Amino acid sequence: MQQKTLLIAICCAIFLLSNTRNVLSEKLPIVLWHGMGDTCCFPFSLGGVKKFLESEIGVYVKSIEIGSSIAEDFKSGYLVHPNQQIEIVCAELTKDVKLNNGFNAIGFSQGGQFLRGLVQRCSTVRVRNLITLGGQHQGVFGLPNCPSLSSRTCERFRQLLNHAAYTDLMQNFLVQATYWHDPLNEAKYKNSSTFLADINNERFINESYVKNLKKLNKFVMVQFNKDTIVQPLESQWFGYYTPGQDKETQRLNETDLYIKDRIGLKTMNEENKIVFLECEGNHLQFTKEWFRENLFNYLM
Ligand SMILES: *[C@@H]1O[C@H](CO)[C@@H](O)[C@H](O)[C@H]1NC(C)=O
Ligand SMILES: *[C@@H]1O[C@H](CO)[C@@H](O)[C@H](O)[C@H]1NC(C)=O
Ligand SMILES: *[C@@H]1O[C@H](CO)[C@@H](O)[C@H](O)[C@H]1NC(C)=O
Repeated sequence: MQQKTLLIAICCAIFLLSNTRNVLSEKLPIVLWHGMGDTCCFPFSLGGVKKFLESEIGVYVKSIEIGSSIAEDFKSGYLVHPNQQIEIVCAELTKDVKLNNGFNAIGFSQGGQFLRGLVQRCSTVRVRNLITLGGQHQGVFGLPNCPSLSSRTCERFRQLLNHAAYTDLMQNFLVQATYWHDPLNEAKYKNSSTFLADINNERFINESYVKNLKKLNKFVMVQFNKDTIVQPLESQWFGYYTPGQDKETQRLNETDLYIKDRIGLKTMNEENKIVFLECEGNHLQFTKEWFRENLFNYLM
């Protein structure tokens, strides 16, 4: 009798162990979220990335499309509020049975902060590793390809736009206004940004954002070192202008958001969950070789 019990126990242990190994080594599907001016499926951009990942990693890859056509998807990048986009995507991914056991997620440009918003808000999906390529986690202050530090015209544009960005109209209708971050007036940003200030817990701490973000296994942020689209480029690593001016920048670990651990990044960093990667080149300019070498181990 005792021997039989022992045998059963051993069998159970072997079964459990082998199963655990399977679960751990099983490759997860991948979800992609495109950036502004792009869509789910153009063959020269995300459509190509999808094919590349399907053939080289060999998993189900879903490229998020907002709306029912490529044209709507393109427009959504400018005109559908991120809060609404995240709700739509949350419902859609939750329904997709192929994603029920979890997935890895890759966000391109603004798709990076939208996916982070999804991780924080959508507790019905399970994201293992979140990779953001050229994301704007602390927002932007400046126009694409218009360097405010070296051009006076660009600096004037920036000041002009600044007046409009926080009006209700812009916050409701222009996606990019929802992550416009004026370092000269942090209070106004915190008060008025209807998306970024919320997911960054700037107004108050939403504990479920913290809890959900910490569930990630790895949060990988890729910064493009010659980026002329994202200003300041440090936003890609969650750094930003030091409050009160728009020239000097600080790293994530020098920001108030990190020091006070407002969204859990300090804890995550101490647990080695945050990965900072850099890529030489301009916004989203990476090669397949770079992608293989640097990102495949977070997708296998
Ligand atoms: C906190 O976030 C959750 C998930 O998005 C949301 O349901 C809840 O309403 C938020 N809480 C507050 C106080 O805004
Ligand atoms: C923040 O919003 C409140 C209420 O809308 C307003 O009374 C206050 O003046 C705003 N503060 C700033 C700095 O914009
Ligand atoms: C912040 O991070 C950088 C590099 O990741 C490191 O060299 C520096 O010591 C850190 N600073 C603090 C205050 O922890």
